[in-house]
Amino acid sequence: MSKKDLKFNSKTIHGGQHPDKAYGAVMPPIYQTSTYAQTTPGGHQGFEYSRSANPTRTALENALASIENGVYGLAFASGLSAMDAVIKLLNPGDEVVSTNDLYGGSYRLFKQIFEKYGITFHFVGMQSIDAIAEKINNNTKLIWVETPTNPMMNVIDVKAVSSLAKKHNLLLAVDNTFATPYLQRPLDLGADIVMHSATKYLGGHSDVVVGALVVKDKELADKLYFIQNASGAVCGPMDSFLTLRGIKTLHVRMQRHCENGKAIAEYLVNHPKIEKVYWPGFETHPNHDVAKNQMDDFGGMISFITKGSNYDEAIKIVERLQVFTLAESLGGVESLAGHPASMTHASIPKEEREKSGVVDALIRLSVGIEDADDLIADLEQAIG
Ligand SMILES: Cc1ncc(COP(=O)(O)O)c(C=O)c1O
Repeated sequence: MSKKDLKFNSKTIHGGQHPDKAYGAVMPPIYQTSTYAQTTPGGHQGFEYSRSANPTRTALENALASIENGVYGLAFASGLSAMDAVIKLLNPGDEVVSTNDLYGGSYRLFKQIFEKYGITFHFVGMQSIDAIAEKINNNTKLIWVETPTNPMMNVIDVKAVSSLAKKHNLLLAVDNTFATPYLQRPLDLGADIVMHSATKYLGGHSDVVVGALVVKDKELADKLYFIQNASGAVCGPMDSFLTLRGIKTLHVRMQRHCENGKAIAEYLVNHPKIEKVYWPGFETHPNHDVAKNQMDDFGGMISFITKGSNYDEAIKIVERLQVFTLAESLGGVESLAGHPASMTHASIPKEEREKSGVVDALIRLSVGIEDADDLIADLEQAIG
């Protein structure tokens, strides 16, 4: 049986993998080397300098390609450096259409780094395909989608955006960090590029900062490999190893993240002190039908605000939590709580933030894989 035909859970463990050539090691060794001996100039075994390629990173890149149903994987030093490589496909004068409630760091990269090189970014509510279409002109080259969005949990219809992108001959990139390929596979839905902050669910243990891209098209892959090597923001061998190890349990962790996420979303929505809970699994979620169609479950990311939408109350809640850790990031085995307005999304101006719902009282939870009862008891004592 070809490894290409494996189902998802088997792919996380075996996809693109083979025992190491040297001693048959089942896990790829951490090739902690910058360079490789050559017998004659150019006489090497496929590796010459670790910015260009490293065997541990290649093992990770093959795993990434496999789980996203792609052909080519690229591993970077962070999610943002993976995005940086995609934007470097563009030229001054080019335009990008993206979501209006994008992760704050992605917004900062677009606005504060790339706008000064003459690339224009438009941010629109992508639940409306017409809103995206309105921003497309002759200079538009790329549509950048994040779904579900961070932290408002909006869900964007990747298939519908892909038809629009194809009609106008644009590249479509999807940040699949929140969903992971366990829940949604954007390349199957028509995207050209899948991007990850592998720092999150793929790594899964809050011990690395890593980024990933996966594509199917050889020409696009070659351009991205060129940028990866020429700009040099590569993932090191140790982080490649840890991320690969994380991927091998992605499916079991995600199953529990989804179960716990559901239990906590339901607890919060019935709590008398909670005003609003953002989670795509609710039938009342404005994009629930799209989520049901393109995702296999609804994940463990939840945002909420308390009644009265009080900033001080939100801060008190996150300070009182004991099992949840107040911290940046998400997607690890441990539950984390964050205050987007002052943490992950502080780089977005307040007026911009609030337009998309990121109010000062919003709390974001990354529900981990502990016992759901302990997590609910913790929220109970913190919310009061
Ligand atoms: C949705 C999303 N995209 C991209 C990033 C950036 O990734 P990294 O922190 O690995 O650079 C993050 C980080 O929080 C994120 O949540």
